[in-house]
Amino acid sequence: MTILEVIRRSAEFLGQRGVDSPRLQIELLLAHVLRTPRLKLYLNFERTLTEPELAQLRELVRRRAAREPLQHLLGSTSFCGLEFEVNRDVLIPRPETELLAERAWNHLSPLTSHLSTALDFGTGSGCLAVTLAVKCPAARVTALDISGAALEVARRNAQRHGVGDRVEFVESDGFAALNGDSRCDLIVSNPPYIVTGEIAALQPEVRDFDPRPALDGGADGLDFYRRLAAEAGQFLNEHGKIMLEFGDGQADAIKNLFQAQKWIVEAVENDYTQRQRILIARPARA
Ligand SMILES: C[S@@+](CC[C@H](N)C(=O)[O-])C[C@H]1O[C@@H](n2cnc3c(N)ncnc32)[C@H](O)[C@@H]1O
Repeated sequence: MTILEVIRRSAEFLGQRGVDSPRLQIELLLAHVLRTPRLKLYLNFERTLTEPELAQLRELVRRRAAREPLQHLLGSTSFCGLEFEVNRDVLIPRPETELLAERAWNHLSPLTSHLSTALDFGTGSGCLAVTLAVKCPAARVTALDISGAALEVARRNAQRHGVGDRVEFVESDGFAALNGDSRCDLIVSNPPYIVTGEIAALQPEVRDFDPRPALDGGADGLDFYRRLAAEAGQFLNEHGKIMLEFGDGQADAIKNLFQAQKWIVEAVENDYTQRQRILIARPARA
């Protein structure tokens, strides 16, 4: 079979199985198998695939048709221009979270009077913690997660990007394992925020392959914002801020939660699709 025939047949098959953008997906899988940039496939449409190449591709198409995410099949995904290892132990970093990363490094980078410090609460793949450490060479980052398996992936991602010496990994349920003596310049978090009762209706790639603890925000999706509003202030220094991602329609409830715990909400920002997505706040100091 030629490259063009494989693309046509597999795209039709994936489309029938409910996979979005099936042609793009098969092109990316095929480029992965052939170890070539996707656009080069277009220059070689008539090339015949070898039997080992076909066998490898068939297996990947079978898994994608079973709705395993493309990023798991490729083994990595891009976040803020950096490549991150992902697997079933971590949430696949989402494009909207890149905005949170950008806001976070814009806050940290100008802090040159001291070695700036940040805490990534619920680090998962480490995408936020590692990106911050890469973009802010004078920063130290604590990457915290309840999942030891996720922290292993995050640790490898930090090493991959040469910042393993400036990122500390802490396995902890909430802030429990942190020593209250150290206060930081920034807490950044993309906590679990899906309403428990809505998880079953998510698309299979998310529902069946992202780790459940990375999704489940409790009965109203706000459990982690309650915890953060109540506890995060004691880990921030005088000029410290918190920057949080949240889900569709949660902005007002989260703003109220933080204001009720004596935080000053500085901004609620939209993502690139004009949906409210990020809250920036600082503790009101007496
Ligand atoms: C939505 S994921 C975010 C992952 C990553 N920061 C990102 O933006 O792609 C939330 C993370 O919070 C972690 N988590 C869930 N419950 C936690 C808890 N009680 N304490 C600490 N981390 C928790 C999950 O393991 C998961 O890695």
